[in-house]
Amino acid sequence: MSICFFISFFSTTNNPLLSGNQTMAAVTEYDRKRLKAFFDHVNKARKCLYDAMDIDQAAKGKDVRTQLTAIPLYVEAQSSAEAAQKALPKVIPSSQADKIDKDRRFLVTCISGARDRISDLRQLQRDSPSSFLASSSRLPGIVEPTTIQGGAKKKGIAAAFASQAEQDILGTIVDSTNVGLSDIVGNEDAKQALRETVILPALNPALFTGLRSPVRGILLFGPPGNGKTMMAKAVASEGSYTFFNISAATIMSKWVGEGEKMMRELFRIARERQPSIIFIDEIDSMLSARGEDENGSSRRVKTEFLLQFDGITTTSNDRIVVLAATNRPFDLDEAVLRRFPRRIFIDLPSAEARFNAFKASFSATKCSLSASELRRLADHTEGYSFSDLQAVCTEAAWAPLRELPPHRIQRASDRDVRAVNFNDVMKALSVVRPATSEETRQKLREYAGRSAQIPTR
Ligand SMILES: Nc1ncnc2c1ncn2[C@@H]1O[C@H](COP(=O)(O)OP(=O)(O)OP(=O)(O)O)[C@@H](O)[C@H]1O
Ligand SMILES: [Mg+2]
Repeated sequence: MSICFFISFFSTTNNPLLSGNQTMAAVTEYDRKRLKAFFDHVNKARKCLYDAMDIDQAAKGKDVRTQLTAIPLYVEAQSSAEAAQKALPKVIPSSQADKIDKDRRFLVTCISGARDRISDLRQLQRDSPSSFLASSSRLPGIVEPTTIQGGAKKKGIAAAFASQAEQDILGTIVDSTNVGLSDIVGNEDAKQALRETVILPALNPALFTGLRSPVRGILLFGPPGNGKTMMAKAVASEGSYTFFNISAATIMSKWVGEGEKMMRELFRIARERQPSIIFIDEIDSMLSARGEDENGSSRRVKTEFLLQFDGITTTSNDRIVVLAATNRPFDLDEAVLRRFPRRIFIDLPSAEARFNAFKASFSATKCSLSASELRRLADHTEGYSFSDLQAVCTEAAWAPLRELPPHRIQRASDRDVRAVNFNDVMKALSVVRPATSEETRQKLREYAGRSAQIPTR
């Protein structure tokens, strides 16, 4: 067996016997040919990847068809990188060890980055209607990102990917929403808690120090459809914070295995743009308790979250609040829960809140409901969430229209449509049932009894 066989790639850089020209003695002609093939494949992978990224970035948000032409280039980049990995000889000249080491790291990033980008773009292709791809050059509703600048690319592929992560995080910043705290019916205690912990400290930070320092972690939890997300949106409208609207998809699915990098990037940018609020919706889907089947990447994301969170709490000057929402708080990792000392239970609406919700819903629709009828409806709807109530009102509002024959609909004005009455709503109640089961409700209440700081109704 030749000695070359025993000299692995990893030992060449440190082996004094293989320095300078001496090394060439151990490198066979066959190795030299393989090394040349290695460099050729690396160069091709690099060129294809950069070309693909140029097209991808320049067309992102503007021209899906052009953006999709990056797919074959990513495929080429990935296969060239894999071919390079296969071509790498066992023995290499030490004079080239550093360069080869760098290339090898590039290959790993290139393969995983290209693979993930291909899958993202194929998803985009599936999501875009074929008629659209054939004609239009702009997808509505997609925010135009800042493209990667040449400088970032020169710093290497890792820098370019980092700037992609940065762009993804910047894309989650919400400037303002059309929801304010006053649009939220009921949940008075939760609104008050948010005012105290988030809104007031931003108005006069000097007052809120020492014992009055605002908490950094607030968890909103409760059955679905009762305004957790809506409350966070209302806080975003207050305007004094940079508001990051994060979901598991932003962090986990972009570059598989790069979730922890996204998490780091998120806190870095939040720190840069403070005062900031990081809102993590459906936090249980990202930071649930450690399970048996959990893969390494989600554990790394969770660990990174804990580290970053501790980073913001130990630096008293940082003004970053993490606001999270979930309807499954019992699934959360205890270490994660501990970071949210303020836990606000947002329960199903009380009879009073249901009365106000009915009143608000029908305020813009012609209806003949008296105050006492609204009260009776509120009494009938124990167990309904706000979004269930909204569905009931919508169903009831359709009833008068359904009575009009189709040929009259075309010319009918508001005057021809009768008012929505009590019976319409009662009928709607038999069609729309509460979405939250009694069992789930009970489980959440028990949980709230054990761990909520602010139970609200
Ligand atoms: N307190 C409220 N006042 C007025 N409307 C509400 C309220 N709560 C919920 N709604 C209505 O129900 C819809 C759903 O609310 P939202 O998405 O905030 O619920 P959620 O608690 O986040 O639910 P999930 O747990 O399923 O995410 C809102 O868009 C809004 O129209
Ligand atoms: Mg929600």
